[in-house]
Order: sequence, then C-alpha cells, then structure tokens
Amino acid sequence: MLIPRPLLHYFRALNRRLLDLSYRFDLPFALGGPSSLMVEPIAVCNLRCPLCPTGVRTTKRDGYTLAPEDFERALGWFRYTIRTVTFWNWGEPFMNRDLAKMVAIASRHGMATMISTNGHYLDKPMLDDILAAGLTRLIVSVDTPHAHLYDRYRVGGDFELVERNFRHAVARRRALGAKTTIVAQYMAMRDSEDIDAIIAHGESLGADKVLVKTIGIGSSFPKPTNEQWSLLPETEEFRRYVSRDDIRAKVEWDDVRCSYIWQTMVLNSDGTCVPCCRDQDAKFKLGSIKDGSSLPAVWNSKGYRRYRREIRDTQKAEIMCQRCALLTRKQLDPGYVFTAAET
Ligand SMILES: C[S@@+](CC[C@H](N)C(=O)[O-])C[C@H]1O[C@@H](n2cnc3c(N)ncnc32)[C@H](O)[C@@H]1O
Ligand code: SF4
Repeated sequence: MLIPRPLLHYFRALNRRLLDLSYRFDLPFALGGPSSLMVEPIAVCNLRCPLCPTGVRTTKRDGYTLAPEDFERALGWFRYTIRTVTFWNWGEPFMNRDLAKMVAIASRHGMATMISTNGHYLDKPMLDDILAAGLTRLIVSVDTPHAHLYDRYRVGGDFELVERNFRHAVARRRALGAKTTIVAQYMAMRDSEDIDAIIAHGESLGADKVLVKTIGIGSSFPKPTNEQWSLLPETEEFRRYVSRDDIRAKVEWDDVRCSYIWQTMVLNSDGTCVPCCRDQDAKFKLGSIKDGSSLPAVWNSKGYRRYRREIRDTQKAEIMCQRCALLTRKQLDPGYVFTAAET
C-alpha cells in the first residue's frame, strides 16, 4: 500500500474517525491504526529527579536500546496513520545517539515530532542534526524560574547550563533556518507556581512558547515520602490528587473511560509495547517489536484486545490509572500560557 503525500491528511482524518468509533462502541479492537505514538529513545538519564523512576534508578529495560532501523521497520503501515510522534518516556532522549535519525524517519513520513529534554545536552553537535531532521517541537524542561529551587527536583542538574543551552538552541535554530518551535516547560510545584514569573523567565530565554504542567506522582511511587509529597504546589487548582491519604486523581472514574488505548501506542526503548506512559514499571507488556515483529502486529493482539475489554476495571484498580491525570489535567494544567508574537 502506498498513499501519496497529498492524500495522507485525508487518510489520517478518516483513520481518526475510525478510532473514535472503536472507542465509542467499546470495541476491543481498533478499526484503524494509532494516531499518535510515544517512543522512548532510551531509559537512562544523567539526572536523578525524585519522582521519575529513571531518576531514582528503578527503571528496568530488557538490555536492548531502540535502533532507527527497527523503529522504521516496526512502523509498518502505521506510517500512514500516525500524525505525531513524541520522543520521550522515562529517560533523557538526547542520550540515544541515534535520536536525529529517528526524527528524520518520522519527518520523512510526514509525522509531526516532539522531544522533551532536560536541556543538558543541547550544546552538543547532535542538536543541529535534530533541527535539520525537521523536528517540529523541542520542549525543554526548565521547571522553575528560580535558580535556587531548580535542583530540588532536577537533582544533579545545572540551571545555568540549561538557561545557556536554551539560548544556544534558539540561536542554532535561527542559524539553520529550522522551523522547530522551542518551548520552555515549567512544572507548577511548591514555591514555583507563579505563572507571571514563569512567563517572564520563559520570555527572557527567548522561548517561542511557555508551557506549564502540574507535577505528578506515578505508580512507581505508591507511598510517596513527605519530602516527595511536599513538592506539590500549594495552589489547590494545580494539585492533581484528592488528598495525602487518597492519592487518586480528581476524576469521577465511574463517568469516564480511558480513550488513550484506542488512540496512542507506547514503544519503550527495549522494544516492548505498554498501554500507556503511566505504566512506569512496564507491568502490562502488550507485545514487542523485537525479533522482527511490528507495531501493527501488537496493536490488535490478544493482549491489547483484553486490555481494552477490561479497561473500566483496570482504571479503577491500578495505581497508574488512579494517579492518571489525563482527564483531570484538561482542567488543571495551565498548558500553554505564552506564545511569542512572531511564532
Ligand atoms: C520523564 S521526562 C523524560 C524527558 C526528559 N528527560 C525531561 O525530563 O524532559 C518526560 C516529561 O515528564 C516531565 N516530568 C518529569 N517528572 C515529572 C513529574 N513528577 N510530574 C509531571 N511531569 C514530570 C518532564 O519535565 C518531561 O517533560
Ligand atoms: S531528567 Fe527526565 S528522565 Fe531524567 S530523571 Fe528527570 S524526569 Fe526522569
């Protein structure tokens, strides 16, 4: 099957409708391919963020790190359905030396691409390769406008380096004439939840956009310590969870059903597919692209179909779903709070 580029947009729109129908009618199989894909380039990191499983070094992957040729092969006919690829999960994407090649593959297939990075490697030559590969959006986790609060979460990190590297990325983008949107992302955390101060800092870095998300405590941390809990913002609207004793997202789970598993696939760096990025410890392995298999072979596999059939029970029983703020965050996360005039 070969779909000419001008028709791709229509094909993807039709595919999206089929996914909506599959979800609406509660079908255990999806009538189309995923419309987005999350790819974890690597599951190691230079930092030690206290609420990231890779930061606290508990992430386990199965001794293989995704290679560009496997990524391309595994796409199969989903290269026609996937609109967006986000290159991150639990690790620092820039530590995979082949990141630019994977971005180039996705760009070649007309997909929008996004990377989230802690910003410590933006001064390396691979930045130019990534910009030249047609990256759509570069999200830099700046986290806070306050230098003295930075390594409270980004343990082992260097705030001034991130600021310098951010400005360097903006300059390289301009020098190369790349179209990449460069986003400064902040996390609403205790003492770092003043949106005006965040916007002012993002503007001072030369960001095209400023994004604010709320901090989460995932399934890898079933019983957070007081220190971890104290990172949550004081602003009640920015807090994802019911209370310290009831760490579930503020969602009426009886009224909603997760739609993620009808729309998005998550490919971990060891080739394993899990239902969602919230499955931090890869508890639900729904298939693998290793040994020549592909994403289409996994998407409607027995495991995936069972998972979709059981989602109402899963979302109530599993910590990863209880903590998931996907539905809540639509109301809680401030999201994009600033866009530069010329963007
Ligand atoms: C796990 S990180 C991996 C990418 C990269 N290492 C980074 O930190 O940007 C994926 C995204 O989650 C964000 N993040 C990290 N810890 C978080 C937390 N506890 N709650 C919400 N988002 C978090 C990061 O800022 C990043 O945008
Ligand atoms: S920088 Fe990203 S991957 Fe690394 S520990 Fe922090 S959140 Fe996790």
